[in-house]
Amino acid sequence: QKLKMVKICCLGAGYVGGPTMAVIALKCPSVEVVVVDISVARIAAWNSDQLPIYEPGLDDVVKKCRGRNLFFSTEIEKHIGQADIVFVSVNTPTKTRGLGAGMAADLTYWESAARMIADVAKSDKIVVEKSTVPVKTAEAIEKILIHNSKGINFQILSNPEFLAEGTAIQDLFNPDRVLIGGRETPEGKKAVQALKQVYANWVPEDRIITTNLWSAELSKLAANAFLAQRISSVNAISALCEATGADVAEVAYSVGKDTRIGPKFLSASVGFGGSCFQKDILSLVYICECNGLPEVASYWKDVIKVNDYQKSRFVNRVVSSMFNTVSEKKIAVLGFAFKKDTGDTRETPAIDVCKGLLGDKAKISIYDPQVSEEQIQRDLALKKFDWDHPVHLQPTSPTAVKQVTVTWDAYEATKGAHGVCILTEWDEFRKLDYVKIYENMQKPAFIFDGRNVIDPQKLREIGFIVFSIGKPLDPWLKDMPAVV
Ligand code: UDX
Ligand code: UDX
Ligand code: ADP
Repeated sequence: QKLKMVKICCLGAGYVGGPTMAVIALKCPSVEVVVVDISVARIAAWNSDQLPIYEPGLDDVVKKCRGRNLFFSTEIEKHIGQADIVFVSVNTPTKTRGLGAGMAADLTYWESAARMIADVAKSDKIVVEKSTVPVKTAEAIEKILIHNSKGINFQILSNPEFLAEGTAIQDLFNPDRVLIGGRETPEGKKAVQALKQVYANWVPEDRIITTNLWSAELSKLAANAFLAQRISSVNAISALCEATGADVAEVAYSVGKDTRIGPKFLSASVGFGGSCFQKDILSLVYICECNGLPEVASYWKDVIKVNDYQKSRFVNRVVSSMFNTVSEKKIAVLGFAFKKDTGDTRETPAIDVCKGLLGDKAKISIYDPQVSEEQIQRDLALKKFDWDHPVHLQPTSPTAVKQVTVTWDAYEATKGAHGVCILTEWDEFRKLDYVKIYENMQKPAFIFDGRNVIDPQKLREIGFIVFSIGKPLDPWLKDMPAVV
């Protein structure tokens, strides 16, 4: 017998919950979708013309459904109470203290969400784990739900989200796969089918994979670890390219042509960022350690080590090529988001690069088309891992970093600068008037391209001293003592 689905509620209106629910609402007109959050400001923004996140195509989808079968609300308990399926996509920060600090996922928000669901539920519910969580979280959540259930039947599913920011809507419309993990009991299988029917409204059946709970949870961590590993692999090769005169773009192209390897995720960069990769690998490392697998843990930990190395290597290049000091020099930073087409700055390599340059007393002038001054100042003030707590629980930055200014214009940011660092691959950075930028800079004028968006040869012809990740070194840089 088919389960009749009337109402979906999603706990957490963030980068995952917001776009995912908007697309479900668009593709399933007969389903009512309510997204709830404890943050009043965030819900207000979802109900306004200025959505809280920048994502190409998102505005359109929200406009089509909002008020029809898509709603944003702070009345959490009411909507949870009415829902047949509850998606949970709340924060799962890395623990900063106690057991597993710096590695393990902090399930505080998840646990309180589960207790609340058990508390307000008056009818049977399917609870869907959407945020990435450590393997066997579902089991823990299941225990909390069942032990507090008052006779209500809960089925827990793991349905990890694979969307990437900047392409979220595209990824949701046309996913490589949808993964649903559940219990292998008759009730569990029924719940899996119920969720599968939601996605089957637009996703071809053969792309909807069903597995047991733990396979689903582990697949998400493993997929992110594999993707991050490819970037660290190509970034490690980029350092060797600089040392030998090979060109990382040529190497990556040749390597990626092997169909067993494939061309994607082989762009060398200043390092990967984003809310998932580092956090998920740390979580994977912790799980390995807890399961007595130190060799496996250290294998994955090295993916993060290479990423940290890549960021500090970049800073060292900047400082060493500018006569070993950037003290009081103006350095322009173009791009602060962790990738293009998003305003998200979580774990962006720009934070570590800026902190490195500030450590050498540089004056930094930042331009990013989607990131506000307030956000940048908060990022530079927050401690490691503190970013992943609901905004209103984050410590507010007491004093802005005086050495940092933020503008809304690339030419303003670069005016009078000694050097320019490109840290996000925004398309507009490929089309800037670099002659104009060069003329308004101090000489010698340096450009450090952390995303390989500019043509080093063309910029050298203008007069710049150019460093591009993994490319043959500028003669100038060859003569500088290498500390990288
Ligand atoms: C390899 C490269 O594939 C080839 O391009 C290069 O020119 C020479 O080295 P080869 O060593 O002949 O070729 O065999 P390959 O199929 O790559 O397998 C190498 C080893 O990896 C084998 O022991 C194979 O059993 C193992 N392997 C391969 C796995 O354990 N798992 C896999 O998924 C694939
Ligand atoms: C990632 C996964 O791709 C997605 O499937 C998962 O659901 C969440 O985590 P996201 O973090 O949004 O998505 O962006 P992604 O495109 O994966 O980029 C992550 C980081 O890697 C960015 O900083 C990006 O600039 C960097 N990157 C990516 C590279 O440095 N080189 C590449 O070749 C690709
Ligand atoms: P993600 O990238 O995984 O979507 P975000 O941090 O963008 O992560 O979103 C998580 C959201 O979950 C935040 O808006 C936060 O306010 C919300 N949240 C955290 N705990 C709860 C809770 N107990 N109930 C409702 N919303 C919550």
